[in-house]
Amino acid sequence: MPDLYTAIRDDHDEHRALLSSIADTWEDPARRKAWVRFYTEVKSHTVAEEEALYSRLLAATEDSTARETAREHEALDALMEELNGTEMNSLAWATKFKKLQEDYLHHIEAEEHDIFPRARREIPAGEIGVAGDQFVQRKAEARRLAMPARRGDLEELED
Ligand SMILES: [Fe+2]
Ligand SMILES: [Fe+2]
Repeated sequence: MPDLYTAIRDDHDEHRALLSSIADTWEDPARRKAWVRFYTEVKSHTVAEEEALYSRLLAATEDSTARETAREHEALDALMEELNGTEMNSLAWATKFKKLQEDYLHHIEAEEHDIFPRARREIPAGEIGVAGDQFVQRKAEARRLAMPARRGDLEELED
């Protein structure tokens, strides 16, 4: 099992790749598939990250930067739901997606460069393996819950 920081960073690398492919691919169904994967991955990543990383960090220290970065999850989630409710081949979708891309890239940069160093100071190194396992397990559970939306989207594609 990877340690917590490696598991999160590996996810971020996949999210970056998916964002680029969504931005660069205009034809369905490739873009829709990449979007559905991004949505499902980020939804489950965020739930697992809050439990495995932020809850530990915020239990160890009253860190307002960590609290604010964790709170960005709500706005990102709301923007993803807005995108799900918007016709994908529209200017509105493209505009909202551009905002999501910028905001999300900024968010994961902040996690890697600002939150990880804070967490390394506050969370005992001996807990990082257990936290990594918790992250992977929690993400798998959350991904199953995010699945119905994905199945719905794919069924729509086949209509
Ligand atoms: Fe995050
Ligand atoms: Fe993250």
